[in-house]
Amino acid sequence: MSLRAATPDDLAGIMAIEQASFPTDAWSVEAMAAELASPHNRYLVDEVDGVVIGYGGVRALQGGADADIQTIAFDAARRGGGLGRALLRALLDAASERGAREVFLEVRADNPAAEGLYLSEGFEEIGRRPGYYQPDDVDAIVMRLDLANRGNVLRRSLSEERSDETKLSDGTEGQE
Ligand SMILES: CC(C)(COP(=O)(O)OP(=O)(O)OC[C@H]1O[C@@H](n2cnc3c(N)ncnc32)[C@H](O)[C@@H]1OP(=O)(O)O)[C@@H](O)C(=O)NCCC(=O)NCCS
Repeated sequence: MSLRAATPDDLAGIMAIEQASFPTDAWSVEAMAAELASPHNRYLVDEVDGVVIGYGGVRALQGGADADIQTIAFDAARRGGGLGRALLRALLDAASERGAREVFLEVRADNPAAEGLYLSEGFEEIGRRPGYYQPDDVDAIVMRLDLANRGNVLRRSLSEERSDETKLSDGTEGQE
């Protein structure tokens, strides 16, 4: 895994994943180019051997109190291995660096993988927007993260990881 700031040259690689990940409501090339160019946004790509395998962006105005996760997606073959969580955390770091205290996002109500990721990073549901995603007529779940609470979530997940490692290393659990 290699995370770095996105550049305009990444547009084609990003759009390939965008169109495959969001077949009915992908952003246009023009919209994505504008996202990458905006000084208010921070976009990151993950790459392997020079090929973009995932991307994500956060909108955080310098000195603003709030930020928005704009999008995040990985090539289907790369999902489920922790890369999405690492990229999301890097975007939250970027929002913190710009002074944000809370972060918002919308997620499709029929996307349990993404919702599970956000919940496990400390986001909470604060509302629903009926039929927000068209043409599929799927609701948006609106979520919010208080960045001040983020340290607690990270500390909790680290201690859970350590406890899992202990269980595995003493052989008491983790056997099939
Ligand atoms: C959402 C997405 C970016 C997550 O990235 P990822 O690398 O697959 O996720 P991770 O491996 O880091 O998993 C992080 C958590 O997400 C959740 N998750 C991931 N895949 C899941 C699945 N298939 N079912 C349920 N939960 C899942 C889990 O909570 C997981 O934590 P765990 O591994 O400790 O159980 C990726 O699945 C993706 O690109 N999806 C298509 C595009 C998309 O829907 N983007 C979000 C738009 S809001």
